[in-house]
Amino acid sequence: MRMRVPPLRYWCGKSVLITGINGFIGGNLAEALTAAGANVFGLIRNRNSRSYLFHEGLDRRVTLVEGDLGDKELLTRVIGEEQIHTIFHLASQVEVGVAAAHPQLTFETNVRGTYQLLEAVRLASGGVRAVVVASSDKAYGSYPRRKMPYREDYPLIPRYPYDVSKACADMIAQSYASELYRLPILVTRFSNIYGPGQLNFSAVLPDAIRACLGYGKFVPRGDGTQIRDFLFVKDVVALYLAMAESLAHRPEKLRGKVFNAGTRQPLSIREVLAVVHRLTGRESDLPALYRGMKKRKTTGEIDCQFMDYATVRKEFGWTPKTRFAVGAEETIAWFRAYFERTPTA
Ligand SMILES: NC(=O)c1ccc[n+]([C@@H]2O[C@H](COP(=O)([O-])OP(=O)(O)OC[C@H]3O[C@@H](n4cnc5c(N)ncnc54)[C@H](O)[C@@H]3O)[C@@H](O)[C@H]2O)c1
Repeated sequence: MRMRVPPLRYWCGKSVLITGINGFIGGNLAEALTAAGANVFGLIRNRNSRSYLFHEGLDRRVTLVEGDLGDKELLTRVIGEEQIHTIFHLASQVEVGVAAAHPQLTFETNVRGTYQLLEAVRLASGGVRAVVVASSDKAYGSYPRRKMPYREDYPLIPRYPYDVSKACADMIAQSYASELYRLPILVTRFSNIYGPGQLNFSAVLPDAIRACLGYGKFVPRGDGTQIRDFLFVKDVVALYLAMAESLAHRPEKLRGKVFNAGTRQPLSIREVLAVVHRLTGRESDLPALYRGMKKRKTTGEIDCQFMDYATVRKEFGWTPKTRFAVGAEETIAWFRAYFERTPTA
């Protein structure tokens, strides 16, 4: 599999904690960091051995710490004993539908979990040099299409539980970075991320790929006119590494800053489905699928979102490298191999 080479020398020998390591982005980040020689520690709540981390054998190259994000004592101990230098905070309840059905559970993990972790960082009194907190484009809430792409200075006006939970975590992170505590924290608000290892089948791309490969049935959640911006996970990993390195070098400049990233090339869900069907040779299924989607309305989801990358390009020299069709092809190839080994996923 194609793998972008991270800045090797910087990460070599550094102790890095990833919360949510058993998730999609956490697994991809662990892959890059272990390849770069970092000592990676990962908070893991359940040993889902179907994840990217286990499927790619990365679990053998990292130290797993079993526990919940709400366990501040555990986090304090790990950060202190392992002399954690950098933290990527990715653990989150990410499913929008689960959040709608179980708001409290979502707030517990996404809001309480975030302040428990950041309290542990505060108690570590200066040992941690960089903390990257994953917020989301969802934290902005709904703005009219004419206001897209989102800009970092837009007020957060979320309404639905997942979106509110991410906005709360986002603001809590900024508060710990303020002049009161001066913790070296920055916040990311990225658009939809896709790629190998995304096993959240409530997301449109994995669900469509699984169906097109013959391992499930695609469940349309809307009429397909919703607009989203799809960022490839390897591009996200490259950006995370650049951000954390810069933050450790320039904490006074970057602490408390918020960064958007996307491709600035929004796609409708119908366009996404068309690409997946074309790449898997299932184009003939599309007309019936589109007919079935007509008049389906979603509630509790934002209609149109996309991002640009002007600020991250200026600050970190980052641009998205992967065109959607290329990233989708790599993702489909990964899923093909994955389902052959794990067909009941
Ligand atoms: N995937 C995207 O499109 C996207 C876009 C923007 C932002 N983000 C953010 O990036 C982060 C990672 O997303 P992902 O797609 O990898 O999600 P994921 O669901 O694949 O991974 C999240 C991980 O967090 C773990 N987790 C959940 N609750 C926990 C708890 N209480 N204690 C410990 N671990 C817990 C889960 O077990 C899972 O392994 C999230 O914060 C998400 O909001 C994701």
